[in-house]
Formats: sequence, C-alpha cells, structure tokens
Amino acid sequence: MDSNGPIWYPFTQMKLADEPIHIVRGAGALLADKDGKLYIDAVSSWWTNIHGHSNPYIAQKLYEQSLQLEHVIFAGFTHTPALKLALRLLIHTEGHFSKVFYSDNGSTAVEVALKMALQFHSNAGVNKKRIVAFENSYHGDTFGSMSVSDRGAFSQPFHDKLFDVTFITPPLPGKEQESINQLTTFLANNDVAAFIYEPLVMGAGGMLMYQPEYLEQLIALAKSNGVICIADEVMTGFYRTGKIFASHYCETRPDIMCISKGITGGTMALGATLCATHIFEAFYSDDKMKALYHGHSYTANPLACTAANASLDIIEQAGFIDNVISITSIQSDFAERLKTFVTATTKEVTNIRQHGTILAFDVVTPHQTGYFNELRDEMYRFFIGNGVLLRPLGNTVYIMPPYCINVEQMVKIHAVILAYLAQP
Ligand SMILES: Cc1ncc(COP(=O)(O)O)c(C=O)c1O
Repeated sequence: MDSNGPIWYPFTQMKLADEPIHIVRGAGALLADKDGKLYIDAVSSWWTNIHGHSNPYIAQKLYEQSLQLEHVIFAGFTHTPALKLALRLLIHTEGHFSKVFYSDNGSTAVEVALKMALQFHSNAGVNKKRIVAFENSYHGDTFGSMSVSDRGAFSQPFHDKLFDVTFITPPLPGKEQESINQLTTFLANNDVAAFIYEPLVMGAGGMLMYQPEYLEQLIALAKSNGVICIADEVMTGFYRTGKIFASHYCETRPDIMCISKGITGGTMALGATLCATHIFEAFYSDDKMKALYHGHSYTANPLACTAANASLDIIEQAGFIDNVISITSIQSDFAERLKTFVTATTKEVTNIRQHGTILAFDVVTPHQTGYFNELRDEMYRFFIGNGVLLRPLGNTVYIMPPYCINVEQMVKIHAVILAYLAQP
C-alpha cells in the first residue's frame, strides 16, 4: 500500500509521484516550504494568482467581511459583496452583458454557460442541440465541461458517458482558413446551439495561441447563424493577455462569458457566468419551467465575492496596468533571446509564442509530444530544484506569473530556463 498520507492529490498518479512540497507561507510571487526553501511561483498557482500570495489588502478585506457575514444561502437572499461585484463585472465587460450568474469554480462556470445556451433554445421551442468546440480545448473536469473539451487521456475512461460535440480545428497559425471553413460547413446544418472557445490562448491543451482577427470572423459567422457564442475566459481573464479579457481584442463579443481563477486575485474559489440581455430574456417568464434550475451551496459566497471586489480595487488603481505592460515587455525580450540562444549543448526550442503576459515555447523532442512527454518530469524537477515553480505541459514550457512579480524574479525564471536548455 502507499505511504503518502491521507490525501489523494489531483492530476497525480499517486504511486509514481514525488512527495508533495509542503508550503507553509506565501508572499508576493514567492512560496516558502517547511524547510525555508523559496520558490518563485511562475505559474500563478494554477493560473489563479494575480496580485501575489497572501496579499495584505485582500486579507484585510476578507477578515473584515468574515466578522460580518461569512456565508448565506443565495436563493431568496442576497448580499452587498455579490451585488457590488456583479455591477463591477458588468462595467469591466464594457456593457456587453447584463446579468451575472455565480458559481464556485471554472468548470461550474462552464456548466452554467452550457445550460444557459441549451435551455435558451429549448425555452424558445427551437430544436438546436449541437455544440461546436475547438480541438485541443480544455474547459474543465465536470462531465459537461469535459464533454466540450477535446477527448484525451484524462477523459478517456469516461468517453462513452460524454455528450456528443463537434470539434473544429482552432485558427492556429496556418490553420485559420481551415477553421473558418469547418465552422461554415457545420453551420449549414442549422442545428448548432452554441460555440464554446478559449479566446486567443488555449491553456491546458498546450498554451496554443491564435490571433484575434480570426476569432472575430468565427464569432461573427456563428452569431449571424443564431449560434450562442460562449467565451471561456477562466484562464485568459483578468489581464493575462494584456487586456482585462481576451475577448476585448475583438469587436464582436460573445453572448456568454465564463470567468473564475483570477477573479478573486487567486484567493478564494468563485466562478461567474455573464450573459447578454437576450439570453436572460429567454428565461424571464411567468412559466416556472423556463427558469435556470442550477446552483451550488457556496454560490456567491460573501467571502469569495469580497476577495473579488478587493482584487478589482487593486486592478482599478492607477499604475496597476504598468505591471502588466512591464511583464509583457520582459517576456518579449526573453522570447527574442530564446530565438538566438545557442550554446554547445543547447536543446532546440520551437513555436515561441506570446500573448500579453503569457509566454510559451516547445522543447524539441524525438518522442511523442503532449502531456505525457518524458521531458515534462525532467524539466519540472530541474526548475523546482532551482527554486522556480514551472509546470510544463508535456514538452511545452510556459510562464504565467502574478503581476506583482519583480524584475529580478523574472530574470531568475528566465535564467533557470536557459540553464535547463543549455544542459547536455
Ligand atoms: C479555460 C479553462 N476553463 C475551465 C477550467 C476549469 O476551471 P477549474 O479548474 O476551476 O474547474 C480551466 C482550468 O484550468 C481552464 O483553463
């Protein structure tokens, strides 16, 4: 039997895994383990953290709120942190949405979006059920969000239980027209209910990136055919790509947007699904059967909403965007350096790509690429051993730091990556 203690960890083959690192403290971009070793959190702890760990401002607001109201049922009751946050989210999305539906993580934000889209048509008595998504997409681990994610090794045991989805090629460089042609073909059947996509950066599928002009064309095409467009901004939201939402690089906006992760600055679990007026109106009826019957015990938890309001306070401060711009520029310089970095033993890198603060590249390997590529564990251990938390996706290395990171810490992350690449 195993000797790993009482916890079954996520995304982990418990028999093969190294002992987990026991973290006792976090401050800014740093994490400290029980032996006092420091790690730079170059992946923002699963892409959640934006203002640094144990942010004192968010912590103070949480403390004050927890003395006032820690939680309350969210049906038949409401509270100020949720009301305030909803109004602020609607403003930050530039008036394209009119309602916020709360849940408690990214997968549930996606579940809610899918239910909104499917029931929108069903409430109108329209028989449209097909959902279109991108190959290589990832939208979460619950059954609905797994269904709209590309089929892969993680979901393999459940494939016969996932609902049918039509996958199209994403508009990656060189594949733009193929993507548009495929969507055009499927739209001709007139049975597509919704199109769900990760705007500009497809995270877990390998930090794949594409340009806004092609997303614009896909959304416009879908919308002109009465298809509900769902932007999954769970990872891209809150300035990862340089703007508060990646969708803001396009003029044509989605009907529904899913957000989570960075929403609370990375402090508390919270999800939100924003929808445009016409979506909400399809549910607004004297008929009780047209309501959206969905909710979770911790929906709109007041502490989580307070953390999100505190995070927006920081975002709205003058000077916040300067950090995003500075990280973007440091990452661009590193991308240039990577292109020309050569030593006697340098490993070859390819597909160097960047959107805003996110930089990714692939290490060339003779073996099959993808999540289970053998370089992954080697690179992870090297980076951790050198005090940098980077979690390559197979042979893909990416950097997604919190915005409070300083120049020296960025320089260290880049230096550790170059040291790995220069290894024989
Ligand atoms: C684009 C996207 N959607 C949804 C999710 C699922 O979010 P959660 O892990 O909070 O359920 C993720 C998680 O990585 C994601 O990247």
